[in-house]
Amino acid sequence: MSVRHGLKGFGIIAFLLCALLPCGAAQLNLMPWPSQITQQDGSLALNAPPRIELTGGDERIHHALQRFLRDLAAQTGAPFDRHFPGAQDGPALVIHCASKGRRVQSLDEDESYHLSVSQAGVELTAANPLGIMHGLETLLQLVEPGPNGWVIPYVSIDDSPRFAWRGLMIDVSRHFMPLDAIERNIDGMAAVKLNVLHLHLSDDEGFRVESKRAPRLTEMASDGQFYTQDQIRELIAYARDRGVRVVPEFDVPGHAVSWLVAYPELASGPAPKGLVRSEHDQLRPPLDPTNEATYKLLDRVFGEMEGLFPDQYFHIGGDEVDGKYWDKDAHIQAWMREHNIKDNHALQTYFTKRVQQIVHKHGKDMEGWDEILDGDLPKDSLIQSWRGADSLANAARMGYKTVLSAGYYLDLMYPASQHYAVDPTSGPSASLTADEKTNIIGGEAAQWSEYVTPENVDNRLWPRTAAIAERLWSPASVTDVSSMYRRLAVVSRNLEWLGLQHISGSRRMLGRIAGDDMPLQLLETLAAAAEPVKGYDRETTQVYDGEAPLNHLVDAVPPESDQARYINELAQRAVHDPSVRPELRAIFLRWRDNDAKIEPYLATSMLRKPLVPLSQSLSELGGVGLDALDAVEAGRAVTAEERKAQLAKVDDCAAHHAEMFLVVTPAVRALVEAEPGAQ
Ligand code: ACM
Repeated sequence: MSVRHGLKGFGIIAFLLCALLPCGAAQLNLMPWPSQITQQDGSLALNAPPRIELTGGDERIHHALQRFLRDLAAQTGAPFDRHFPGAQDGPALVIHCASKGRRVQSLDEDESYHLSVSQAGVELTAANPLGIMHGLETLLQLVEPGPNGWVIPYVSIDDSPRFAWRGLMIDVSRHFMPLDAIERNIDGMAAVKLNVLHLHLSDDEGFRVESKRAPRLTEMASDGQFYTQDQIRELIAYARDRGVRVVPEFDVPGHAVSWLVAYPELASGPAPKGLVRSEHDQLRPPLDPTNEATYKLLDRVFGEMEGLFPDQYFHIGGDEVDGKYWDKDAHIQAWMREHNIKDNHALQTYFTKRVQQIVHKHGKDMEGWDEILDGDLPKDSLIQSWRGADSLANAARMGYKTVLSAGYYLDLMYPASQHYAVDPTSGPSASLTADEKTNIIGGEAAQWSEYVTPENVDNRLWPRTAAIAERLWSPASVTDVSSMYRRLAVVSRNLEWLGLQHISGSRRMLGRIAGDDMPLQLLETLAAAAEPVKGYDRETTQVYDGEAPLNHLVDAVPPESDQARYINELAQRAVHDPSVRPELRAIFLRWRDNDAKIEPYLATSMLRKPLVPLSQSLSELGGVGLDALDAVEAGRAVTAEERKAQLAKVDDCAAHHAEMFLVVTPAVRALVEAEPGAQ
């Protein structure tokens, strides 16, 4: 069934389905999938730079067009960027934008666009420059090679986002991320239509923005790693130019050691001696909510930062406040009794309300993590749900606007499919009334950076963030996981043309580990079969240490191995389909023989030594896989004991080594379970 091939009898049905789903037009590599798309036969030849006719909008559209031509040139390797605004013989690109956008990009701006590609050329219209920017990203994704040159398939797209808040949070406190790392990731965000960059700018490990009103924060609490105010202005302009808002977070009253290094008198109890440098630094008191000087400082610094960051929202953190410091402080306890504050949650709510007044006084709305949720807060507070989707539903029910991050924590190293399955309006939110649901304004991927550096931040973010971007932009009905992975692979490759380094950076790091003595391919065989451990398991074997180099294989490999996913699927097919078994056999053989070849190189470098047991496990797994494949092919029955022993070996091979584990054990397990004989 396909609109493209014009099966007339199915035309109407295909049209209806394809308006909603990536089905008939599924060969297009669009991500996020548009809300409405119809595809016609044929395509427009892109034989020369497009001839651009632009009316309306603001200066951002000019910049977006220049980037479009530059990115088109990078993606195709053809000089489409030579002539601005285009060559006379090029196809028409007619753009009309009905208005200028707001001076400060806001949540309620219209991001929709209409894009049509036909014999007459390309037409792109939108109410607002944001829609034009999104439409140009879609157009870039449509360009594909044809037999006689680059082409754009004939389509008609009417697209608009499902949620207005489509964010990515990056923690720049645990590991500071220089401006260029943030800017290239903004390019990635814009490519997949994300529109909020949330920067986690202060934590126990450092305060990362220059403060002129409280310079001790910069001098004593940043280790010299911070953004100057000029850099922040540059960053905000860069983001605005790409349709991305920047929401700053200054985490209080917990995660606030950096504040206390500069202002020790504001600690709840004894003050820490210095910034937290590793998990071993256990003294992490919150700010003292009973001290008026706390609010004076927050007023001074938040006033300054609210002037620097123009966005309407200002994030005050509020997560993981460790109440034991309040319990142990006699002065705080006496103050609570005196003020009739019954417990630590009530004390935090008192603090949050005071902070909200400060944020509001400087003209902004307060956002905080879900610990701040309390019916006593003003209703313009925004709640970021992270401890579970219950808080999202509760906030929405209580009348607060809310965004979902639970399920979108990229640092947990889960596969794209797992994040893709998380929908802000399902789960506990499904039972909300339609009115309450409107309080759910979107979601945010979150990247905490205890184990992330500027070198591997791209590989931690991409391409998985694109799958979350689709969840937040596309209709809820767009859920086909294999379509998602097929398109994600293309998006991933194309992001590298934009300057993202998730693939190239990973290769570079592998090259460092292989050095100049060892064949890279041996390391690649091992790397492709392994993934970083999931959840917070890494903390159990390698506690966070801000000074520790993050240059091992676990830091180099992507959180999700595409090859491993392919091999696991291949094995499932091999159970029933003999034609794919030779390919699987070759893989198992390669694994089995890899350890003998790689072993001499492992001991000679500290980057490789920890890989010895992982490599041995891969060989063992390859051996079991070959035995199982032999039994399946020969129809040879195994005894229950033999199968049990094989499965035990497979389980052993899944053990964690060097903060990684082999993710290809399901492939071998599938074959073992398919062996004839007693189960
Ligand atoms: C959080 O992850 N502590 C918000």
